[in-house]
Amino acid sequence: MPERDIQGRPDIEKLIRAFYAKITADEVVGHFFTEVVDIDWEAHFPIMFDFWESVLFHQPTYRRNAMAIHLQLNEKEPLLPEHFERWLALFEETVDEHFSGEVAHNAKTRARSIATMMRIKIANQ
Ligand code: HEM
Repeated sequence: MPERDIQGRPDIEKLIRAFYAKITADEVVGHFFTEVVDIDWEAHFPIMFDFWESVLFHQPTYRRNAMAIHLQLNEKEPLLPEHFERWLALFEETVDEHFSGEVAHNAKTRARSIATMMRIKIANQ
């Protein structure tokens, strides 16, 4: 088990790149990233780094609306409970493969609570 915690943006970059390698190749959720949306990866990665820097280190670098973007995504292709479970399982697996500690734990907890909010908003829209 890794002993290093997530300490800053370079660690976030490592985590997110490893997570996306898994998620884009995954048979349950990969198609959202490869078929449903035509992602501009050069733009998308820094946005994801900003998002996690904001969530984990309280840096106000992410100023977009991730909730609205997933509601739009759900209109194109329904985001179902099994998609969220798979997304979270892969995220947690990736965190555990690279980091351990308070921030790593926090990343998993925050991902789960944001996913729960997304599911509630999708169910109520
Ligand atoms: C079923 C689970 C999920 C799927 C299939 C999914 C898929 C996607 C896709 C395809 C995009 C690109 C959308 C676009 O550029 O139009 C995206 C963006 C994003 N996702 Fe997710 N997502 C999921 C859950 C989550 C969760 C739980 C989080 C946060 C913990 C998250 C955070 C983000 C962020 C920050 C962006 C960038 C939004 C922006 O452009 O500002 N996603 N997601």
